[in-house]
Amino acid sequence: MAEDVKFKVSIDGIPVEVAPGTTILNAARRIGGDIVPPAMCYYSKLQGSGGKCRTCLVKVTKGSEKDPRPMPKLVASCRTTVMDGMEVQNITSPEVIEARKGVVEMLLINHPLDCPICDQAGECHLQDLGYEHGLADTRYEFERRTFDRIDIGDKVQLHMTRCILCYRCVFVADQLTTKRVHGVLGRGDAAEISTYIEKAIDNEFSGNVIDVCPVGALTDKTFRFKNRVWFTKPVEAHRDCPSCSGKVTLWYKGDEVLRVTARKDEYGEVEDFICNTCRFDKKATSDWVIEGPRQVKRTSVISLNHYENPNPPAVIKKNLALQEANKEQFERMKQLL
Ligand code: SF4
Ligand code: FES
Repeated sequence: MAEDVKFKVSIDGIPVEVAPGTTILNAARRIGGDIVPPAMCYYSKLQGSGGKCRTCLVKVTKGSEKDPRPMPKLVASCRTTVMDGMEVQNITSPEVIEARKGVVEMLLINHPLDCPICDQAGECHLQDLGYEHGLADTRYEFERRTFDRIDIGDKVQLHMTRCILCYRCVFVADQLTTKRVHGVLGRGDAAEISTYIEKAIDNEFSGNVIDVCPVGALTDKTFRFKNRVWFTKPVEAHRDCPSCSGKVTLWYKGDEVLRVTARKDEYGEVEDFICNTCRFDKKATSDWVIEGPRQVKRTSVISLNHYENPNPPAVIKKNLALQEANKEQFERMKQLL
């Protein structure tokens, strides 16, 4: 097929043209905004990811121009490729919203409601989903699965109780490191992420499992319980690193760097995987070239207490002296970093 062939697709009535082979999810991401299905297991940087969590279900109301029949069941948008003339519904379909509620209920069956003490709170995709689609109550009457916490190496801790078995961390270990020592053992209700005979995950890129985990199952032991993420100041920085791109986000409390993570895009996916030296061993401001505050969406809980104020309130807009004061304050804050 010629390279410039494009398929016309519409998602929630919004048209987009994409290359053949594009998934419905990625076509929706080309449009952006609310119509993009949530994705708990798909990760564009990890080959073979997707198809595990079912949060990305959509309704195909027209299969293609040639065969306009609708698809009989909802489909996983991260695994279904588009056809020319396809019409898809996401947030405009009550059936999809109802199904997504069911998926969230299912994901929460074994997930503890320990957000108040979980390090992922504030940047947890399951928390966001639960907020948007979750029920206030549970219908599950059986005992939940519980596990002891396991230290996998000296820097990463596994809370299997919170894991939703998305397999992202397994793909990271498979695709970023030379020797994988952890994976999903057992199947069905007995499935769990585990290290092979209590081995530690210790290679230069192992810390990336923390960034890809959509929930708080894999956490950074150097950051655990240090702070709520919305009380920290995220700042973009880079360094000349021989192992990775060295482009990171530093999370400050005062002038202390509490943690270092990869930079994440609007879908919560890392832009570049970073090495463990950058993540765990470079926690002084002098290790980094500071680029400036990280842009945080106002809808994100992390934007709470964020010092950057690109849209001053109306009262400041009208008052020149206040505007200047605001600017000075912002500059002073930047110098402090
Ligand atoms: S530990 Fe996290 S990244 Fe790994 S499978 Fe579980 S939820 Fe996914
Ligand atoms: S994101 Fe599609 S099934 Fe998980």
